[in-house]
Amino acid sequence: MNEKLSDYISSTGENVNGSNPLNRDNPIADNHGLRMHNLVSNYLEISKPGTGRKNSKSLNADVNSHVNSCKQLDESLISIAQQAKGYIVNGFDLDLAKVLVVDDHAASRMTAVALLAMEGYEVIEADNGSGVVEMVIQQQPDLVLLDVMIPGIDGFQVCQLLKQDERTRLIPVIFITALNDKRSRIRGIEVGADDFLSKPFDRVELAARVKSLVQQKRLNEDLDHAEQVLFSIARAIESRDPNTGDHCERLVALGKAFGKYLNLSRNEIRDLMWGGYLHDVGKVGIPDAVLLKKGNLTPQEWEIMRQHVAIGESICQPLRSMQGVIPIIRHHHERWDGSGYPDQLEGNQIPYLAQIFQIIDIYDALISERPYKKALTPKEALAVMAAETAKGWRNPQLMKQFADFINTCHSSDSL
Ligand code: SIN
Ligand code: FE
Repeated sequence: MNEKLSDYISSTGENVNGSNPLNRDNPIADNHGLRMHNLVSNYLEISKPGTGRKNSKSLNADVNSHVNSCKQLDESLISIAQQAKGYIVNGFDLDLAKVLVVDDHAASRMTAVALLAMEGYEVIEADNGSGVVEMVIQQQPDLVLLDVMIPGIDGFQVCQLLKQDERTRLIPVIFITALNDKRSRIRGIEVGADDFLSKPFDRVELAARVKSLVQQKRLNEDLDHAEQVLFSIARAIESRDPNTGDHCERLVALGKAFGKYLNLSRNEIRDLMWGGYLHDVGKVGIPDAVLLKKGNLTPQEWEIMRQHVAIGESICQPLRSMQGVIPIIRHHHERWDGSGYPDQLEGNQIPYLAQIFQIIDIYDALISERPYKKALTPKEALAVMAAETAKGWRNPQLMKQFADFINTCHSSDSL
């Protein structure tokens, strides 16, 4: 080990006990705080000015003995953190936020571990990239502090995998890079890093960045939960309507496949798929007497039914992540010739994703059996839709692409 410990801690790391939140008011934390203080002071001793000028042999001995005390420190800190569960840290209820530190350099890793534990975090560690993704999936830390150069798979790949996985994509990743390593930072941005820190760690900076990203992640989680609530409502509405079966699930699959066929962007495909679940979420505001009526609707009842698009729009409007789906929700009943609702938009005034969505919505309804009708074959359904397109209801070019897509799917049996 050639590095000096002082490479990992900058001068602002001196007064480590100064803001130790665990030392306030909490008898358990007080007790352990003192032990922790001693261990950390011992540990940080080596970073004092002058220590770094020792010869490398005595420095190595110091490092080894301090690494041992760090192990002790580590266990002690984690147990303190565990006992402080739910404790308010710097006015922010961490509810024991968990941070994973991935670094193969023991001294550097332990420094981060010690500093984070001092801030009241539960800290877990890894010294290589191989099992990290699995570990993150299982342990669900609130943040990952990730060194770039680690054995196994490198930090960039780890970050990319985490950001691509539904189960881990909201977990912020801070890369530990060397100061001025511009290339690593650019690569880090490309793979979805949330922030960067350089060695030597500045304790105040580390604490501030970790705290702000953990807070941000918790807000994002709430947002995600809000989305999940919406999807649950949409499913509940679908199950309330005995006519639809698993129409939404099929629309999601069809939207994904047709979106890919049309070479839409990832976000557009995601919006189409979300549209599959959410397009009729506004039916939550339609009374059962109308929504579940067996016979034909009266003109007044149709008026009520048509409100589902505006109701759906206002439900999703407050959620930023829903902005791409809202045009689908509001406009999935417009018609190419302007005879649809709610805004009587014509031609390409109708948002493109709403045009696409309407085609798959109608197609799936036609090929599905309902209590009042038999399922059509794909060929029959396409014939009905071609006749409606000839009447002016749909974009003829898009309709042709859809027919080609369905024919391709059925000839290769990929749907
Ligand atoms: C629906 O959205 O499925 C029913 C309303 C309509 O067909 O216009
Ligand atoms: Fe609808």
